[in-house]
Amino acid sequence: MLKIENLHATVGDTEILKGLSLEIQAGEIHAIMGPNGAGKSTLAYALGGRPGYEVTAGSVSFNGTDLLDMDPHERAAAGMFLGFQYPVEIPGVSNLQFLRESLNSQRGERGEEALSGGEFIKLAKEKAALLKMDMDMLKRAVNVGFSGGEKKRNEMVQMGILDPTLAILDETDSGLDIDALRTVGSGINAIMRQPDKAVLLITHYQRLLDEVQPDYVHVLAGGRIVKTGGPELAQQLENEGYEAIAEAA
Ligand SMILES: Nc1ncnc2c1ncn2[C@@H]1O[C@H](COP(=O)(O)OP(=O)(O)O)[C@@H](O)[C@H]1O
Ligand SMILES: [Mg+2]
Repeated sequence: MLKIENLHATVGDTEILKGLSLEIQAGEIHAIMGPNGAGKSTLAYALGGRPGYEVTAGSVSFNGTDLLDMDPHERAAAGMFLGFQYPVEIPGVSNLQFLRESLNSQRGERGEEALSGGEFIKLAKEKAALLKMDMDMLKRAVNVGFSGGEKKRNEMVQMGILDPTLAILDETDSGLDIDALRTVGSGINAIMRQPDKAVLLITHYQRLLDEVQPDYVHVLAGGRIVKTGGPELAQQLENEGYEAIAEAA
């Protein structure tokens, strides 16, 4: 589904990703762990096509097409979802409006018909229930005044509605209390753990991986993947820290 080869990316004048390679097949959940400043968010942004994150070398293929050749909205319409470490607030735009616009513009880009108001509300209710999100929150302005946990939960409702094939989730666990972590974890499983979908989960901690069990765990350090293993690698990181493992690699 996603094949990253020798990716180099710079932010400002600094090279952050220095030859990162990673392959994700449909049906798989991959976790990326690594110390602060390792380039985890940079990887997510480079894949999402965020301005300011310049890819200087390497290739990324997404379902057989050249991802780096696509605009961010084309990447989204092609089925890529990017969950932000710090979700943005959009005053004056209700969540429901925002979600309906996003979904229908993606559908339009794929040549699919827009959902009617009624169809959309039905879908939104179903996904909100899955994430234990009150419908009242969906009527409020996007993320305005939401707690950290509510923002993340909201983002997962958004993911449920957009129904991507590949979700790249950047520290979705940050700011979540234990209950919210469980709800978000089971939401990710319900929405994304399917044979035709895949997830790249960026996280610092083992906790989320107890809820969403990864097939592979990668350690990102110095702008590259320095080690890959199974779920036991996350446990080892938790016990021994990044430094020991990055140095041994
Ligand atoms: N917009 C930016 N301007 C300048 N430096 C940045 C910017 N974004 C990230 N960096 C730098 O790039 C490095 C990697 O950051 P990031 O990808 O956010 O790491 P991580 O998500 O692994 O903690 C850090 O040294 C950070 O300071
Ligand atoms: Mg980050």
